[in-house]
Amino acid sequence: MTKPVPNANVHLISHPLVQHKLTLMRDKESSTNSFRRLLNELSMLMAYEVTRDMATQDVQIETPLETMTAQVIDGKKLVLVSILRAGNGILDGVLSVVPGARVGHIGIYRDPKTLKAVEYYFKMPRDMHERDVVVVDPMLATGNSAIAAIDRLKVLRPKSIKFLCLLTCPEGIAALTQAHPDVPIYTAAIDRELNDHGYILPGLGDAGDRIYGTQ
Ligand code: URA
Repeated sequence: MTKPVPNANVHLISHPLVQHKLTLMRDKESSTNSFRRLLNELSMLMAYEVTRDMATQDVQIETPLETMTAQVIDGKKLVLVSILRAGNGILDGVLSVVPGARVGHIGIYRDPKTLKAVEYYFKMPRDMHERDVVVVDPMLATGNSAIAAIDRLKVLRPKSIKFLCLLTCPEGIAALTQAHPDVPIYTAAIDRELNDHGYILPGLGDAGDRIYGTQ
């Protein structure tokens, strides 16, 4: 269940279960334990939307009663690319519904002064040109990390790239769609704005800190 939004590149996942869990996560009283569990559940629900157009193939199976042709997905063709470290919070939930997916990691941190993305780690599966990629990061804020990650991934020429986050804001959407207009964005919410420190308002705070209890 996605809601049409003015930017056709953005898929707003408006399902009530997604919105309910997101609200619980935003609450500053949510413990690390609840935050992580909710993110995991939310990620499974968002995986449902982001994989909606995944290719299937026909296979012949035997039910207890007869032979039939049925559809299966080839999970191995999918690569989930986590932007470290907060991306791992989404990764686990998505992997629990597409367990055959491959996983890549990109280590990027935001320079606190310039808010620019600095890469420190990059590890992808082989044969990326045969695979569809979903980049995961809970927060699409300035867009700098997402843009830097996708710049690097495009060198490997994957078949397609999608970006999956929990929360974004108009500034993040504008930056990412300007840099990569071919990359659709899947999100559970588009918040009001970015503050001067690159945080989304009203947002949920620092996603990495809230997932790992490092505040
Ligand atoms: N990263 C976060 O963790 N939170 C924000 O609000 C913005 C970027």
